[in-house]
Amino acid sequence: MRLYQGKDYDDLSKKAAQIVASEIFMHPKAVLGLATGSSPEGIYRYLVKAQQEGTVDFSDVTSVNLDEYKGMFPDNEQSYHYFMEENLFQHVPFKASYLPNAVEENEEKSCREYDELIESLGGIDMQILGIGANGHIGFNEPGEVFERGTHCVTLAESTRQANSRFFDSIDDVPTHAFSMGIGTILSAKRIVLVVSGENKAQALYDAFYGPITPKVPASALQLHGHVAVFADKDALSVIKEKGLL
Ligand code: F6R
Repeated sequence: MRLYQGKDYDDLSKKAAQIVASEIFMHPKAVLGLATGSSPEGIYRYLVKAQQEGTVDFSDVTSVNLDEYKGMFPDNEQSYHYFMEENLFQHVPFKASYLPNAVEENEEKSCREYDELIESLGGIDMQILGIGANGHIGFNEPGEVFERGTHCVTLAESTRQANSRFFDSIDDVPTHAFSMGIGTILSAKRIVLVVSGENKAQALYDAFYGPITPKVPASALQLHGHVAVFADKDALSVIKEKGLL
């Protein structure tokens, strides 16, 4: 992995956004894999700015998101559809944007169709990722196997707890979600991982310096040849403590 140390969250977001913008410049028809949550918000702010300044042209770019809460309709303010609309899509005119269909009753059909869609787009050129404090990427939670394709997951209690900050109460946080698989994430040509804050420091260490195991889903990234990690000082604290940096 290639590491970019940011002075702070804003700095690492700016650097990561530059890489995404360069990808679009080099490949105007790029397929971008997108994430939600706090980690990529800064990247999206800088991409919106670039769009407003006319330095990036998104009109031929397609996006596919990592995940969506099961049962949530796109107009639900807590849905990832809504998050993406607010933070990016309403400001940046992509050619097309997709998220998993989380309201399809037939889970298997929904998962199969999302995988087929990604395949029909020719796969993902650049995937943006955050990481959970438990080492998840997308909603691939720690488990016994690395899931290959889109699947429906039971969210870890720690993930529901972490995400409850966006809800009135933990009881409102969904228990299930649809997520792209580790296999799909690893087939992206390039991966941009944004990690900020001390609560992610152990997960970042485990992901890149621990064994490759589905118990730490992000450790699968060690198998990928083009991962750029954008991290701040706090996120790098465990790696530094161990004298690895
Ligand atoms: C979100 C996603 C998750 C988050 C992770 C970190 O689409 O796939 O893996 O990236 O939970 O969340 P934040 O960035 O909010 O700390």
